[in-house]
Amino acid sequence: MKTNGYDPLARFYRSLEFLAFGRALERARFQHFEQLRGRQRILLLGDGDGRGLALACQLAPHAQIDSVDFSAGMLRRAADRLSPADRQRVTLLQADVLTAEFPRNTYDAVTTLFFLDCFSPEQIRVCIDHVRPSLKPDAIWLYADFALPVVRGWARTRARIWLALMFTFFRWQTGLAIRELPPAEALLKTAGFHLLAETSRQGCFLRSAVYKNQFVT
Ligand SMILES: C[S@@+](CC[C@H](N)C(=O)[O-])C[C@H]1O[C@@H](n2cnc3c(N)ncnc32)[C@H](O)[C@@H]1O
Repeated sequence: MKTNGYDPLARFYRSLEFLAFGRALERARFQHFEQLRGRQRILLLGDGDGRGLALACQLAPHAQIDSVDFSAGMLRRAADRLSPADRQRVTLLQADVLTAEFPRNTYDAVTTLFFLDCFSPEQIRVCIDHVRPSLKPDAIWLYADFALPVVRGWARTRARIWLALMFTFFRWQTGLAIRELPPAEALLKTAGFHLLAETSRQGCFLRSAVYKNQFVT
């Protein structure tokens, strides 16, 4: 993907989402966000236009929050959502998540919302290995993304059609390199993250989950 791939989309991203899916992605995105309540250090990866950031600020009013995205356009929109007070405790970092430097043993929560589907399986492994040392041993990983329903039928066919359309669109607009959904949750589990809670919508096309770090440093 081009590093500025999402810049031209930043202004329309939310409207496009609502046109295509109504409020369904918003519900999936924030299904388990209550888990951020009371957290002290939060890392948002590829948060895009900052809707996740705005809600995280609300739920964790004392947290220091770092949000990393490589689209300057998206980060500008995220910044616009912040109150002057919240700007003091939020760091917006324009960087590639796969290579950005994160402080060790620091965050008690990390979020990837419709983000890991930008990566190949190998890149997700790299992402997990790269981010993990910055997590506290009992940190949570909030996850939301598309999934291909396992059971054959209309939900799976519909999902296939949507995924084909979306991958074509994002390849055209952002230079997205991958052509199919990576098995992100399986990779989190293989890496030792433990599933705490999960919600599926639209016949398992939309997944929201909470994973817990079980890695002892
Ligand atoms: C599909 S959008 C999802 C945005 C948001 N999380 C949401 O729920 O709608 C993916 C976001 O990840 C960012 N992104 C993609 N690959 C990235 C990378 N390697 N490092 C940092 N940001 C990345 C893009 O710029 C974009 O803002």
